[in-house]
Amino acid sequence: MASNKTLLMLPGDGIGPEVCNEVRKVLDWMDNRRAVSFDVKEGLVGGAAYDAHKEAITDNTMQDAMDADAVLFGAVGGPQYDNLGWDVRPEAGLLRLRKEMDLFANLRPAVTFDALLDASTLKPEVIQGLDIMIVRELTAGVYFGEPRGMQTLDDGTERCIDTQSYTKAEIERVTDVALDLARKRNKKLTSVEKANVMKTGVFWRQTVTDYHAAGDNSDIELGHMYADNCGMQLVRNPKQFDVIVTDNLFGDMLSDVAAMLTGSLGMLPSASLGGVDEMGRRKALYEPVHGSAPDIAGQGLANPLAMLLSFAMTLRYSFGLQDDADLIENAAQAVLSRGIRTGDIMGEGNEKVSTAQMGDAVLEELDKQAA
Ligand code: IPM
Ligand code: MG
Repeated sequence: MASNKTLLMLPGDGIGPEVCNEVRKVLDWMDNRRAVSFDVKEGLVGGAAYDAHKEAITDNTMQDAMDADAVLFGAVGGPQYDNLGWDVRPEAGLLRLRKEMDLFANLRPAVTFDALLDASTLKPEVIQGLDIMIVRELTAGVYFGEPRGMQTLDDGTERCIDTQSYTKAEIERVTDVALDLARKRNKKLTSVEKANVMKTGVFWRQTVTDYHAAGDNSDIELGHMYADNCGMQLVRNPKQFDVIVTDNLFGDMLSDVAAMLTGSLGMLPSASLGGVDEMGRRKALYEPVHGSAPDIAGQGLANPLAMLLSFAMTLRYSFGLQDDADLIENAAQAVLSRGIRTGDIMGEGNEKVSTAQMGDAVLEELDKQAA
């Protein structure tokens, strides 16, 4: 069905294509059962794009991403691409999308499902009911700072540099997103840096403090934490957090820690959002937090729930379809409650299913819920 809602699907490498297949089923379901349809384009990214075009993403695909209302991204990378040149490595495709679409706010929720409490390595009481949101700055910091690279000093010494750099505006805009989210949640924001060691950390803390104070934010409790302590606190007592805002590199690490609290990377979605333009539109890319998992690719073993939940986030944040997003999230929950599991979240007495069977089980639950 023709639609004014455009989606670009970039399955990528490894398990990316398999988990994207399950989203296609849900797209068909929505078209048939909810009369919600999308114009879906597809493109190549990462190793798949390299194989076809010797680039991690082509200019054409980049343009499709810029034009789409939302991009659904699978995963990139694989051992066969490990020795490619820096500019064409699979990750370069993802980083180009983030940078050129200016997706500065990366939302990484870590939510535990009751049915999966046993899948976590932490004690159930530590993680039961956990619901935290990490907001990671995604287009600046050491990922993109200049200068970077190798240098040879006058005495012949070789050294290598990466640069951590933040402008005030870059910190303020991600703080703004985090404050908004905190307001819709439990009204608690923790800003994370290394102000005890890094000048950018001092600046980050001051900028967040000033931004919070300057606006109408007295309803939001703001706290600060050093990144190393935050890593420790996430494992010790994660429920003390509501929203965490942090820079690109600390956010990369802390979101992996937070993800594992929930038991499996295979469960976690993410959204990367740009600024709101004059038309009220914001560029957005949605991707599961898990990577391409080349070791299990192509075998029907991958857990498609993170990808399906990323699609639910797409409905929620890009299309305002809260009810449809709820349907998918509830369906995933119901499937887990029935004891249906992919290998990564298997527990005693569960029924082990393939990627496609998990997708089908979600569809079955969707049918029930929408009936
Ligand atoms: C992530 C990943 C990426 C990152 C890689 C694939 C470039 O680890 O999205 O967390 O480091 O940002
Ligand atoms: Mg990462």
